[in-house]
Amino acid sequence: MKEKLEEIRKSALEVLEKAADMNALEEARIKFLGKKGEMTAAMKEMRNLSAEERPAIGALANEIRANIESHIEGKKAELAQKLEEMKLKAEVIDVTMPGRKQNIGKLHPLTKVMNNIKDTFIGMGFEIADGPEVELDYYNFEALNIPKNHPARDTQDTFYVTDNIVLRTQTSGMQVRVMEKQKPPIRIIAPGKVYRSDAVDATHSPVFHQIEGLVVDKGVTMADLKGTLEMFIHRLYGDETKVRFRPHHFPFTEPSAELDISCFRCGGKGCPMCKGEGWIEILGCGMVHPKVLANCGIDPEVYSGFAFGIGLERIAMGRYDINDLRLFFENDLRFLDQF
Ligand code: DAH
Repeated sequence: MKEKLEEIRKSALEVLEKAADMNALEEARIKFLGKKGEMTAAMKEMRNLSAEERPAIGALANEIRANIESHIEGKKAELAQKLEEMKLKAEVIDVTMPGRKQNIGKLHPLTKVMNNIKDTFIGMGFEIADGPEVELDYYNFEALNIPKNHPARDTQDTFYVTDNIVLRTQTSGMQVRVMEKQKPPIRIIAPGKVYRSDAVDATHSPVFHQIEGLVVDKGVTMADLKGTLEMFIHRLYGDETKVRFRPHHFPFTEPSAELDISCFRCGGKGCPMCKGEGWIEILGCGMVHPKVLANCGIDPEVYSGFAFGIGLERIAMGRYDINDLRLFFENDLRFLDQF
């Protein structure tokens, strides 16, 4: 009997030694200590022993059972630790590995220049006015003193939604929209997209951007126009830049002018940038025509004002030395990444 018990202990410890995972361990526990296990079977045989033998063998059996149990516990702890180590190994983070590059977007060059221009005017006390790109003929032309058969319409051919609704050709219509709603003093800029039925080439696009400006108050004169625009140009191009006003015609201003600046590339000597002229045309401007004021219910005998219109693309092309307008709209990242 004693040999038999020792035999069970030996084979149990051997099996436990080899158990590679929790399942194997549980199988071993059932095989040796389970209800139908070898130890239980051996214990049943105790009946056949004499009363003298029984206590010693009983004690031995208890000792062996405890011995096997403690081995199972020990092995369990060992396996659990191994499992934990494997997990840690699998989840290890190599902090020396190079990071993954995050591609961060940037502002479009036109947006950058637009923000710059807005900031400059906001700094001078202007507010920003926003209006529709799909516009009534009345605001785009009629109220601006450009009646149906006016030749100025030829240079601003556009896309018609109906006979009376167009894609706006200029932001100047915002002058009228603002004056209808707001009583002087008025000091606004109206930036936005405009449309013309032009074929695409290096300097033409059917969609481009303008920034309209309008100031109306009592006693506003041409001197205010000159001072404001000169200040704007100096902020944008530097104090050394010279400004000249050249007489021009716009139906909605009288008198009207175009503003040129001394070439920012050659300083006025003449170069390919300014086509040898020394000057670069930047914007149109003038004193708001009395008829336009009257169209908006503002008494031209009491109030006067000035207006101007800036082409955003032209300014951005000059600033970034870009010679083809199409680059702004093609959304080629190789181009856009450079700003
Ligand atoms: N809207 C004109 C254009 O597209 C630009 C312009 C000229 C706007 C004179 C003005 C202005 O407000 O006074 O050619």
